[in-house]
Amino acid sequence: LREHEEFTKVKNIATIELGRYEIETWYFSPFPPEYNDSLKLYFCEFCLNFMKRKEQLQRHMRKCDLKHPPGDEIYRCGTLSMFEIDGKKNKVYGQNLCYLAKLFLDHKTLYYDVDLFLFYVLCECDDRGCHMVGYFSKEKHSEESYNLACILTLPPYQRKGYGKFLIAFSYELSKKEGKVGTPERPLSDLGMLSYRGYWTRVLLDILKKHKGNISIKELSDMTAIKADDILNTLQSLELIQYRKGQHVICADPKVLDRHLKAAGRGGLEVDVSKLIWTPYK
Ligand code: ACO
Ligand code: ZN
Repeated sequence: LREHEEFTKVKNIATIELGRYEIETWYFSPFPPEYNDSLKLYFCEFCLNFMKRKEQLQRHMRKCDLKHPPGDEIYRCGTLSMFEIDGKKNKVYGQNLCYLAKLFLDHKTLYYDVDLFLFYVLCECDDRGCHMVGYFSKEKHSEESYNLACILTLPPYQRKGYGKFLIAFSYELSKKEGKVGTPERPLSDLGMLSYRGYWTRVLLDILKKHKGNISIKELSDMTAIKADDILNTLQSLELIQYRKGQHVICADPKVLDRHLKAAGRGGLEVDVSKLIWTPYK
């Protein structure tokens, strides 16, 4: 127990102000020491600089000229926009985003080099600017075929389908790269629920269309979902049988329909025709 206590960092910042929200934090985040005596931090919602006092933020807002995340807008559909930020070109922004995200991510060690990552920040836009609702990060080059490192929907925006939208987006990027991808492990409970939901929905829709006559390899080619994740998902849905040393899909139409009903709503769709992006080189 003693040992455990030593390794469990105490949560320092209890709330943050971000745009029009005051948000209670979930976990410890390793802000620079001079911020650690603050219970509350004030974030500029556009450049993500953080301050200890409200007056500092107000002064900052008068001179900060950003109205959206730095970087390229690579997707716009209605009021939703996605921005791609290169951690090497916008180091401070990348670091600020990591400090912020760690407040809601338990088991992630953040202090990799932000240089090595791209950040995909999803915003709801109006006449005041583009307000961040969530993001995911992605290694520029992953040996393990990870297509997503960390994912977060800010608490005021959770349970509205943004998480599944971000996950779908990460797979659309993988499709454009012509690669399969998988999220970095470990997944949090909420991360696992969201991925399971996404995988289940996507795979069931295709199985239904093909009346089950399709292989795991073909499913993987169509969806950019790694074969292991497909096998695990279909196994948990009891759609896999092991015959003559091979896993085969057995998708009884009645079973499919039952699962599809239980899978719930599809969530926000990514309209691929609105994604303007070429892979990182
Ligand atoms: N209770 C029960 N189920 C939940 C909950 C919850 N509080 N939140 C999400 N789910 C499940 C549901 O099945 C939901 O689908 P449904 O609403 O159709 O039933 C599904 O997850 C996804 O819901 P979304 O609304 O699409 O996802 P959301 O925008 O809430 O974001 C996310 C999900 C990103 C995991 C969010 O909960 C979050 O930011 N959590 C904190 C950070 C975190 O844990 N990130 C993942 C770490 S793992 C990694 O980064 C690789
Ligand atoms: Zn600012």
